[in-house]
Amino acid sequence: MPNASELVEAARAARANALAPYSKFAVGAALLCEDGTIVQGCNVENSSYPLTMCAERNAVFSAVASGRRTFSAIAIAGPSDARTSPCGACRQVLIEFGPDMTVYYTVPGGVEETTARALLPDGFTW
Ligand code: THU
Repeated sequence: MPNASELVEAARAARANALAPYSKFAVGAALLCEDGTIVQGCNVENSSYPLTMCAERNAVFSAVASGRRTFSAIAIAGPSDARTSPCGACRQVLIEFGPDMTVYYTVPGGVEETTARALLPDGFTW
């Protein structure tokens, strides 16, 4: 099973595929699935800006599309000088797949560790 630093490295590697010509803010994500598979994602921007999709959601949706629905952790990597904690929309998507999911995200000089639940207290569930 991949460990935390391998997951963060996979997120950093996924940044290379980011399509971010407008913001120039490349983000990579790496989702650890129950079966040990790592599914990567990157942000994909669009000239109609709101259509942009974040790296985290691309990773989650790609994993679901490949038949995986149970996740234990996600790592998110942004530029080395930024705190790249997940946006509100991605937090909502993450808690849907498990409030206990560990979330790692890069910050200047390091990596923060938290959970989906801690990132979105009292998030919507139905
Ligand atoms: N972005 C992500 O991919 N994930 C986040 O959680 C925060 C923001 C992307 C969206 C956009 O392409 C760029 O970063 C700047 O907002």
